[in-house]
Amino acid sequence: MEKFSQETRHNYQFPKHFWWGSAASGPQTEGAADREGRKPSIWDYWYTIEPDCFHKGIGPENTSDFYHRYKQDIQLMKETGHNSFRTSIQWSRLIPDGAGEVNPEAVNFYNRVINELIANNIEPFINLYHFDMPMAMQEKGGWECRDVVDAYVDFAKTCFQLFGDRVNYWFTFNEPIVPVEAGYLYQLHYPKIVDFKRAAQVAHHTIVAHAKAVEVFKNLRIDGKIGIILNLTPSYPRSQDPEDVQAARVADLFFNRSFLDPVTKGRYPEELIEILRDRELLPVVEPGDLETIRENPIDLLGVNYYQPRRVKKKEEILPEGAAFMPEHLFDPYIMPGRKINPHRGWEICEEVIFDIMIDLRDNYGNLPFFISENGMGVEGEAKFRNAEGYIEDHYRIEFIQNHLKWVHKGLLEGANCLGYHLWTFMDNWSWTNAYKNRYGLVEVDLDNHLKRTIKKSGRWYKQLSENNGF
Ligand code: NOJ
Repeated sequence: MEKFSQETRHNYQFPKHFWWGSAASGPQTEGAADREGRKPSIWDYWYTIEPDCFHKGIGPENTSDFYHRYKQDIQLMKETGHNSFRTSIQWSRLIPDGAGEVNPEAVNFYNRVINELIANNIEPFINLYHFDMPMAMQEKGGWECRDVVDAYVDFAKTCFQLFGDRVNYWFTFNEPIVPVEAGYLYQLHYPKIVDFKRAAQVAHHTIVAHAKAVEVFKNLRIDGKIGIILNLTPSYPRSQDPEDVQAARVADLFFNRSFLDPVTKGRYPEELIEILRDRELLPVVEPGDLETIRENPIDLLGVNYYQPRRVKKKEEILPEGAAFMPEHLFDPYIMPGRKINPHRGWEICEEVIFDIMIDLRDNYGNLPFFISENGMGVEGEAKFRNAEGYIEDHYRIEFIQNHLKWVHKGLLEGANCLGYHLWTFMDNWSWTNAYKNRYGLVEVDLDNHLKRTIKKSGRWYKQLSENNGF
């Protein structure tokens, strides 16, 4: 790696070829949920049975219509300084039944999007799974089912074969711990199961699916890099009480290292295995799984960073016979006096991004990574519209700058960070929160035919990218 040092042009100057862009996903932007051969994912299905679970009853069909407006949107990416952009291929669009026939309309659509990005000098970053299990696969058991792992690997292979000649950066999963927690522990996502043992099985199968997809990618000798996108939530003890310190370690093992270690070091943390073994919660591991994981480390990591986890020891003992939950070992906790984003109740702690960078530098062989998501969700932004008709989101500019200062410091300390992607390019549909919290550089007006207007932050982001610093 070329050593990065500060130049003098701007206060915060970033390395040459730094990626400036944003992230989004197919299911959150495309719409056209039942058009041109696409079949339902778990989100479409869940919405049909429980529409009230979605903010203001807005479901996955009502996204920003990227399916039809991608050309216009890619122009807006240019106008907001993007040199790279992540989205995902919807499994349920490309292979509507999850396994079997490939949908030619979908091939056509993703080809057009990828080509349009490249024609506009925007590097496409393509992710393969963003919480969107095809319903046909969920009916077989979703990630609990081994056949679904194989079907996912076939889907990944199809994507590499169809688009690998042009896409240089691939990601197998976005935030794979989220479907585990939200779908199998906390009833926040479909299938709304509460069962730690099944959650552990889902996690293991996801990691096997990831490793097998990496293996296929390498065997196909695709000229590109492959990685995974993890939401890292560094865990800090509430106090120096040794029991709080231990609780923070355990939270870190469960929510960060459980995925980070196998995908980078090729093995699960020993301490995590012991905790699960002691409670008879280890998942079923098939012969060959651990070898596949060991032999297929990633080339590149995406780090989604929003907030840290403040942890204290659990004071109540797990009642006899109760189903085990991670919270039986520790309590998440918000430290008094910390900055909070009032719209989401999430702590804002910029320097934690630096801690992540140093951890990756010192404990993960300084592997190449980029900030693949970071961002600020805000409710009711329309009230900040100015006389010229655009939203003056100075708070978002400040939020990005404050994080970038720490990214910059991490770079000066030798961390191997290749870029920064904001969540997100354009206000989009965010699962059960629907359009509640807006994250975009570009506003989408739901009351005016989805009209797009660049916010102040979008204008500023262009300068940031052009100056490669601020
Ligand atoms: C992370 C997820 O990847 C994305 O889908 C979601 O909308 C954002 N965080 C905001 O909550």
